[in-house]
Amino acid sequence: MFYELASSSWGSEEIAAMQRVIASGMFTMGEHVRRFEEEFARKFGTKHALMVSSGSTANLVGVAALFYAGKRPLARGDEAIVPAISWSTTYYPLQQYGLRLKFVDVDLETLNIDVSRLEQALTPRTRMVVAVSILGNPCALDVLRAFCDRHGLILFEDNCESMGATLNGKQCGTFGDLGSFSSFFSHHISTMEGGVLVTDNTELYHVAKSLRAHGWTRDLPSNTRIFEKKDDDFYEAYRFILPGYNARPLELSGAIGIEQLKKLDRMVELRRKNAELFVGLMKGDKRFVIQRENGRSSWFAFTVILAPGLDLDRKKVMAALKAADIGYRIITGGCFLRHDVIKYFDYECVGAMRNADLAHDRGFFVGNHPRDLRPQIERLRAVLDAAAR
Ligand SMILES: Cc1ncc(COP(=O)(O)O)c(C=O)c1O
Repeated sequence: MFYELASSSWGSEEIAAMQRVIASGMFTMGEHVRRFEEEFARKFGTKHALMVSSGSTANLVGVAALFYAGKRPLARGDEAIVPAISWSTTYYPLQQYGLRLKFVDVDLETLNIDVSRLEQALTPRTRMVVAVSILGNPCALDVLRAFCDRHGLILFEDNCESMGATLNGKQCGTFGDLGSFSSFFSHHISTMEGGVLVTDNTELYHVAKSLRAHGWTRDLPSNTRIFEKKDDDFYEAYRFILPGYNARPLELSGAIGIEQLKKLDRMVELRRKNAELFVGLMKGDKRFVIQRENGRSSWFAFTVILAPGLDLDRKKVMAALKAADIGYRIITGGCFLRHDVIKYFDYECVGAMRNADLAHDRGFFVGNHPRDLRPQIERLRAVLDAAAR
């Protein structure tokens, strides 16, 4: 394809890393995952990093951990404030754990939660805000952090789309009490499938670590706040303390992750160069709303929304993109409220979802990749220009 949505970012280093794991014959979670976690925590400046099988399981284990840790764990019926645009598995653990969701519209330009609606979303039952930085673009994490601190709320950061982005010099994913990352194919780093949970809270980390692997104590040190080790080794070897999962990653993913992490800065730099070209070519054209950067985006993709109020036909634009061999898709998951699965949720909308609906009905994104995309972006510009006349 001339301009695809996603491509591999692996080189010979990742293949060699996999071959070393294959040669070792040790495939289940071990030394490589442990090293990847250490390097991830160092890179992002967090106390702890826990690798899991995907970004989705990072969200699942993270939300679950909040039900079992701290002086005031989450409880069923508590409310969480969420943006109207995100990926499905941002929301699923919240539903599965019995939280009530308060949906807030997004800003049409940043595509992130409209923070002017936060106070309106707040009730005595609010316990958490879920912050999502869409497609590499930092949401107003500083405002959300201050709001949570002011009201004694948990800030959960789903940073699965925005590894390498920063706001005021601080890494996205590290503003929250917990932050999740994805290393699925096409993300800023790829380990095939994979995810990471970061936190500075050691109790949360220990709870999440137990939840990652069967809810047992095996991977925990003996001096944690969450269990007391007894002197019966037979019993301790299979001791279950929490209703957990098996969300462990493979050694192959850990080994690839170590190599990918070394390349992250350079890959983000290349993505930003492409973004500079895209924004330069598109800005000022009133027919298209493109994503406005907040802080420093790591530019997962390039979004285009056909300007509201203009007589522009997305079907026609998409047909032109298809004919030009350019891949496109809905912005993340579109407005989540528009999906059938919403019938299983306990939720409420805080006002209208005008902008999320516009993104759903008039938007799409094209890919960004860690390599020079000048010919692709120039063709995209020409195709959009002709199709929206
Ligand atoms: C915001 C967000 N959260 C969670 C996920 C889930 O990540 P994964 O595909 O690794 O399960 C994604 C996937 O891209 C995502 O965009």
